[in-house]
Amino acid sequence: MRYFVTGASGWIGSASVAELLSRGHEVVGLARSDESAAKVEAAGATAVRGGLTDLDVLRAAASDSDGVLHLGFVHDFSRFEESGRIERAAVEAFGEVLAGSDRPLVVASGFAGYGLDRPIVESDPNPTSGPDAPRGGSENLALSFAADGVRSAVVRFAPTVHGAGDHGFMSVLAQIARTTGIAGYPGDGTTHWPAVHRSDAAALVATVVESAPAGTIAHAVAEQGIESREIAAMLGAALGVPTASIPEADVMTHFSWLGRFFAADIEASSAATRERFGWAPVGPTLAEDIAAGAYSDPR
Ligand SMILES: NC(=O)c1ccc[n+]([C@@H]2O[C@H](COP(=O)([O-])OP(=O)(O)OC[C@H]3O[C@@H](n4cnc5c(N)ncnc54)[C@H](OP(=O)(O)O)[C@@H]3O)[C@@H](O)[C@H]2O)c1
Repeated sequence: MRYFVTGASGWIGSASVAELLSRGHEVVGLARSDESAAKVEAAGATAVRGGLTDLDVLRAAASDSDGVLHLGFVHDFSRFEESGRIERAAVEAFGEVLAGSDRPLVVASGFAGYGLDRPIVESDPNPTSGPDAPRGGSENLALSFAADGVRSAVVRFAPTVHGAGDHGFMSVLAQIARTTGIAGYPGDGTTHWPAVHRSDAAALVATVVESAPAGTIAHAVAEQGIESREIAAMLGAALGVPTASIPEADVMTHFSWLGRFFAADIEASSAATRERFGWAPVGPTLAEDIAAGAYSDPR
């Protein structure tokens, strides 16, 4: 198959491109800069130049594909609402182009905002929707296309998709620990984050685009929930800095924008995903990656 991938140069996207190519697919990757295009081409994919706001480019590339994987996102948390608007417009464009085709559309999502006192399961609907929702309500929007003849599916990624070279949340936490000299955790440290290794996440993405029925929600989660005090202890040991509680009143000062994410208590199951797709994570755990030095060097 010939898949169009946004975010093809990104952390999850580039691993997903490699996985798709290894499975014999052709990949066309969106690239907004020379650097991104070179990365996409070096991986063995074809780069199509454009950004997430170039809707004509997105429509043309989607139209010329057997399916779309939307793994790009503007990760500027200082203008998160604008990122949500861009996200929604891109997903809308894909839905329009793919309507009635039964071609797959896989959209990346996460686990923010559920507020449950039990692990989130695949059948839990995303509690937010509409243009003003976080991420532009793209999860429910994408799933709604199933009624229009799109084989749409969502992959919810654990807040840390970890591994050597990661520049996501775990890398930011490590940088904060280096800068402040403290591997901190919010409050009593009993909040949780799920985790998955990047290679396992990419394998799931490829399986979902190949085979998921319309309306599927898959959870890229290998570890259901690791306590924040445990994450801090692992980072502290790797970086040689002490671990300490950060009082709730100081969380946003200490962790800046990441504070609201790190203070969120999230546990997520992937039991249904494993059963449905035969997906079995085999990559290193977060503890193994941190101990192996994946976060030991400054970014
Ligand atoms: N990594 C995680 O732990 C994690 C956890 C939960 C959810 N997610 C979600 O999973 C998806 C992939 O995440 P990721 O970690 O792979 O992100 P990433 O490494 O930051 O990559 C983002 C991708 O989007 C592209 N991009 C950014 N702004 C763009 C624009 N204006 N036009 C076109 N492309 C643009 C980037 O291109 P450049 O290379 O040119 O910058 C890059 O390819 C995102 O939706 C993310 O929110 C990730």
